[in-house]
Amino acid sequence: MACRAGSLRFLIPKFASCVNRVNPCTVPVLIRKTQYRNSASRLRFSSTVPKPKKEMVQVYFVDRDGDEIEATVEVGESFLTAAIDNDVELEGACEGTLACSTCHLIFKQEDYDKIPEKPTDEELDMLDLAYGLTNTSRLGCQVVITKDMDGLQVQVPTSVVDARDPS
Ligand code: FES
Repeated sequence: MACRAGSLRFLIPKFASCVNRVNPCTVPVLIRKTQYRNSASRLRFSSTVPKPKKEMVQVYFVDRDGDEIEATVEVGESFLTAAIDNDVELEGACEGTLACSTCHLIFKQEDYDKIPEKPTDEELDMLDLAYGLTNTSRLGCQVVITKDMDGLQVQVPTSVVDARDPS
């Protein structure tokens, strides 16, 4: 089969070295592959996985002055993170390492019962040092927000004790 691409090397000297390396008979195949790569039909097939949609809920903090602060929070965040992100005055002095009890929150009984994880011994030890401890107290850094908690209201205690403070 006669190949016209091979004869181009005589017309364009700079092109000749490329032509010598490529089998001129495969050029039509290469062109077809290029056309396929650029075709719109290929764009319909994607291997990228779509990002899961973030689930958001509303929780309400009642601050030390009795004001209610609405917080839109992503499911899976802690109450401490939710408070910080929404400018609620909740210290979280140890940044969630269970060493301070400044993230103490008081839940309503029905909301307290919705919390899937019960407090660990370490959290209970730290809660013993918290100001104004109640039967429905938890540390905000240890409670993860779930979908069931949408609309929940939680109280920030009127005072705070930092368990790391020696005085
Ligand atoms: S932030 Fe210190 S115990 Fe929660």
